[in-house]
Amino acid sequence: MTLELELRDLAVAIAREAGELAKRRRAEGVQIAATKTTLADIVTAADREVEDLIRARLAATRPNDGFLGEESGEAQADSDIIWVVDPIDGTVNYAKGFGQYAVSIAAVTGGVQPDAWTVLAAVVYAPELDECFSAARGHGAFRDGTKLAVAGDSPAGALVATGFGYDPATHDRDLATLARVMPFARDLRRMGSAALDLANVAAGRLDVYYERRLHPWDAAAGMLLVTEAGGEVYVDLSEERSPLYVAASPAFFDQAVAATRD
Ligand code: IPD
Repeated sequence: MTLELELRDLAVAIAREAGELAKRRRAEGVQIAATKTTLADIVTAADREVEDLIRARLAATRPNDGFLGEESGEAQADSDIIWVVDPIDGTVNYAKGFGQYAVSIAAVTGGVQPDAWTVLAAVVYAPELDECFSAARGHGAFRDGTKLAVAGDSPAGALVATGFGYDPATHDRDLATLARVMPFARDLRRMGSAALDLANVAAGRLDVYYERRLHPWDAAAGMLLVTEAGGEVYVDLSEERSPLYVAASPAFFDQAVAATRD
C-alpha cells in the first residue's frame, strides 16, 4: 500500500469517528463557545472537542507529524507531513440546524499554504448526509465506494456555489464578483461549507465553486478531491487578507477564473 493510501485510510477512519461525535453533540444541543473575527464567526464547544479528538487520534498513530487545526493552531513536528484540519466546516449550519457541515482532514507536505503544499490524502465527511468523500494523490477521488468525476460541459450554464465572508465590509466586493459570474451560471448555491462545496465539484454536482478569504483548513482536503476527480483549482494568495480560491470542471474553469479575479 502506498503512503498516500495509508494516510487516506487513516484520515477516513478518524473523520468518521469525529463526525459521529459532532452529530451526537449536536443532537444534545449546540453551545456557542465564542465569537472569533466578527459576531457571525462562531466557534462551538463541539468544534473544540472534535478537533481535540482528531488531534489525539493522529498523535497516537503518527506522533511525528505536524498539525494545523482551525481551533487549536499549529504544532511543529519531525516529519514533513502536516495534517490540516477543520473539525466542523460549516459551523453556522451546524449551529442553526442545517445538515450541510463536514469534518475536513488533509495530509500535506511542503508547508501549510496552498501555493507551497502538496496534498497527499484527504477526507471530507458529512455525518448528517452520511457521505464520505476521500482521495489519495494519484489514486482518484471517491464518495464512499463510487469513483468521482467532475461534470462535463453544460449548455444550460454552470451550477455555481460560492461563499460570503463573515465580515460585512467584504460583501460589496463579493456581490460585484457574483455579478460577473452570473452571466455564465445556470443558477447559484450558497450552502455554507467550503469543504462540501469542493467535494460537490469533485462529484460533478457543481460546475464551479469560488470564494475569497478561505483558510487553508477550509480548502486543503477539498482541493485534492477536485483535482483527483479531473477538475482544476486556482489559488491567488497575492492579497494576504483576501486569497481567492476557484475550483471548477475543465469546461468552466477559464471562465470562472477570469470572472472572479478583479
Ligand atoms: C466556513 C464555511 C463557509 C465559508 C467560510 C468558512 P467554518 O468555515 O466553509 O462556507 O463561506 O469562508 O470559513 O467557519 O464553518 O469552519
